[in-house]
Amino acid sequence: MRSFFHVSDIGPLDKALEEARKVKQTPFAWKGLGENKTIMLVFFNSSLRTRLSSQKAALNLGMNPIVLNIGQESWKLETELGVVMDGDKSEHLREAIPVMGSYCDLIGVRSFAGLTDREFDYAETILSQFVEYSGRPVISLESATVHPCQAFADLITIDEFKTKKRPKVVMTWAPHPRALPQAVPNSFAEWMNEADVDFVITHPEGYELDPRFVGGARVEYDQMKAFEGADFIYAKNWSCPGVKNPDDYGRILSKDMSWVVDERHMAVTDNAFFMHCLPVRRNMIVSDAVIDSPRSLVIPEAANRVVSAQVVMKRMLESL
Ligand code: CP
Repeated sequence: MRSFFHVSDIGPLDKALEEARKVKQTPFAWKGLGENKTIMLVFFNSSLRTRLSSQKAALNLGMNPIVLNIGQESWKLETELGVVMDGDKSEHLREAIPVMGSYCDLIGVRSFAGLTDREFDYAETILSQFVEYSGRPVISLESATVHPCQAFADLITIDEFKTKKRPKVVMTWAPHPRALPQAVPNSFAEWMNEADVDFVITHPEGYELDPRFVGGARVEYDQMKAFEGADFIYAKNWSCPGVKNPDDYGRILSKDMSWVVDERHMAVTDNAFFMHCLPVRRNMIVSDAVIDSPRSLVIPEAANRVVSAQVVMKRMLESL
C-alpha cells in the first residue's frame, strides 16, 4: 500500500475488518515488522486522538515515530508554488518534504482545509505534494477533504456493536460555532457507501456534500424522519461544501439548535448507538444526556483509532 486516502486503498472491507480483529486481539504480534523503521507524523493542525493513536500504533509495530508540529517546532512552511517568499514563511514544502522523506520510511500528514479556496482544498494540494516529493508511502491523518483513519475506525466500531446484519446508519449534520472542514463526513460517507449498511445522510439545505463522496447514499432533509428506526447515529458538523453555491464554500449557513442530537431525536431510533469522532462540543452537537448514555460509543470509537492506524501501517510496512 503506497497511500491511504480513500476506501479503495484498503481493498475489500471484509478482509480489512478481519485484519483489524486480529490486530486488536494481538497488537504486538508484528513487533518485528517495524524494527529499524521510522514513521514521520507531520501536523499542520492540532490533534489529540490522531497524534496519540498513530504513535501507539507505530510503537505496537516496533516502529520509531517522530512527531513534527509545523510552525511550532519547525520553520513555518510555504505551501503555494510561485510566490515571492517575503513573508513569515521561511521554508517551502518543495524542500521540506524531501528532507523529511529522507529521515523516515512512512509519512503521515495532517493538513486541514483552509476553507477559502475550494479548488485548492479539493485538489488536496498539500497532501499531493507529500506524495510527489517525499518518495515514501503517505497516510492522510485528516487532510483537506478526507479522514480515512477515522472512517476506518468508525467502520470497525459499527462492525463490533451491530446486532443486525445490515444496520441503518444515519450521519447527521449538527450545529457548531466555528466553520469546520468536510473531511470527516466525506470519508464517513465514502466508507459507509462501501460497507454493508443502510446509509442515510441528513443535513439542512445548502450543506450538500461533494457528489463523489455522497455516491448513492439517501439524503433526507427531515432530520427526525432520517432518524426513524436507526441503529447508529453519527453526528458531525461541517461547513458549506459549496456544491450548490461555490460562493458559500466554507461558510456557516445555519446554527439551528433543533439539529442538536438529544433524547427527543434518539427516541425515534431503534435504540441507536451514538457516535462522534471527537472532539465534540457538548450541547452544541449532542446533549449531555445522549453522550453520557450507555448507548454512546465515543470512547470505544476513539480507542479503535489505534487499530485502524495499525492495520494501515502494517500493510504499508509489508509492502515496502
Ligand atoms: N477524531 C480526531 O481526528 O481527533 P483529533 O483531531 O484529536 O486527532
